[in-house]
Amino acid sequence: GCTSVDKQTTFDFVVAANRLPVDAVEREDGEVEWRRSPGGLVTAMDSVMRGRDGAWVGWAGTPGEAPAPFESEGMWLHPVPVSAEEIEHYYEGFSNDTLWPIYHDVIVPARFRRTWWHAYRRVNERFAEAVCEVAAKGATVWVHDYQLQLVPELVRERRPDVRIGWFNHIPFPPVELFAQLPWRAPLLRGLLGADYLGFQRTADAQNFVRACRSYLGATTKGDRVTLPAEDGQPTRTVRASAVPISIDVASLTELARSESVQQRAQEIRASLGDPKTLLLGVDRLDYTKGIRHRLKAYEELFEDGALSCPDVTLVQVATPSRERVDAYKRLRTQIETTVGRINGTYSTVGATAVHYLHQSYDRAEMAALYLAADVMLVTPLRDGMNLVAKEYVACRHDLGGALVLSEFTGAYHELSQAFICNPHDIEGLKQTIMRAITGDERTKRRMMSALRKRVTHNDVTRWANHFLANLEASPEKPA
Ligand code: ADP
Ligand code: F6P
Repeated sequence: GCTSVDKQTTFDFVVAANRLPVDAVEREDGEVEWRRSPGGLVTAMDSVMRGRDGAWVGWAGTPGEAPAPFESEGMWLHPVPVSAEEIEHYYEGFSNDTLWPIYHDVIVPARFRRTWWHAYRRVNERFAEAVCEVAAKGATVWVHDYQLQLVPELVRERRPDVRIGWFNHIPFPPVELFAQLPWRAPLLRGLLGADYLGFQRTADAQNFVRACRSYLGATTKGDRVTLPAEDGQPTRTVRASAVPISIDVASLTELARSESVQQRAQEIRASLGDPKTLLLGVDRLDYTKGIRHRLKAYEELFEDGALSCPDVTLVQVATPSRERVDAYKRLRTQIETTVGRINGTYSTVGATAVHYLHQSYDRAEMAALYLAADVMLVTPLRDGMNLVAKEYVACRHDLGGALVLSEFTGAYHELSQAFICNPHDIEGLKQTIMRAITGDERTKRRMMSALRKRVTHNDVTRWANHFLANLEASPEKPA
């Protein structure tokens, strides 16, 4: 239910993220349709915003003029316009071809372009202005992710009355990698405009604190960063600490318990020919997710004769992502070539080795897939958290299934009782996959039960409350 309203409204709680929770998609008849946006940020924040009377400032996913602000499911959505050129320079360029690789261990090389930086600054200014428009006096402003690192400072300059928090959904890089960024100092200053900065892992927060010491000459004590006084500005202290994100465990568990989802899970298995073992991968098609490493291990297990059709099949769901960025185009070609080769070599008439789905699904279908899968493969080379791992665990109310989890995810720090792997070590990954497939059922149920305790304990509401409490208790309150 979306209604357009002309009146200007202000809010005590304002969220700013690159994307709105829904993307505007123009249909063939010219009408605009709203679809849920991709990624973990939206999964988490969508639940947090429900029941809170707040505004969400973000891009509607299409170039040019922004749709008028409107209300949707109790949220006030305030679209920010981003031109076609800015999408190329701010979003695809600086955010996803400069920052994304630097913040993910330089799995692919980062590209530095001054025009991209200029567009990033300009779009961050526009976001800051939009935030100031909708924020009531003394509001709480929660800025999200690497696309908006200048927004905290830009909002503070304009609105010293509001309280500003920022949460990074992705890793924050070690200082040796962050060092490469020609714009490292202004990025840090941008973030330090916040009162509180939240990260996925303690290591991410520590990387940030170290960078402030190295590149701003800030003094630091534990998780606090103090900026030296400058041009009449007093010193400010900002806290940076870990608040690991989560999912809406209760609602997902309930969905997975529903009759229709359980039936759909059985249907999925049946339509795959009722394999003895169903392996599953669910990722945005991103080079950080280790999909190539996963397929390499899987292919070698067929080559070795450890796995074969029709006993085993893999469903790999790969959500389309950032399709105009070169590194993503190359990855797609590599994945699709590999899947073709594996299927050509190891599928049989009627039994396919890899089912590759370059598509998006609704929550019920995702829950059914999780419930159907005997082994979930989560093998990123680097990932801020990885909510897919938590979703899988939340859906396994039957204590069935096994989670293979990379030690390079944020989730590993909570879910270390899973089948842990280093995806770079193909031999080790193969062994871990085999242990997850052949492991004793009782042991696996015990592992799943332990994982469920961890996931249930820290759900998304707890995460948001934790973040907001830290923001509220931050060292300095606005005047
Ligand atoms: P990221 O934020 O990097 O995309 P996460 O694992 O943290 O990674 O979050 C991904 C989110 O997107 C999860 O909530 C997952 O259920 C959802 N998702 C992933 N692939 C699909 C898909 N093909 N269709 C629908 N939802 C998807
Ligand atoms: O946190 C990961 C993240 O990059 C979010 O910032 C983003 O919204 C999501 O994944 C999906 O990526 P994109 O918005 O570039 O499609």
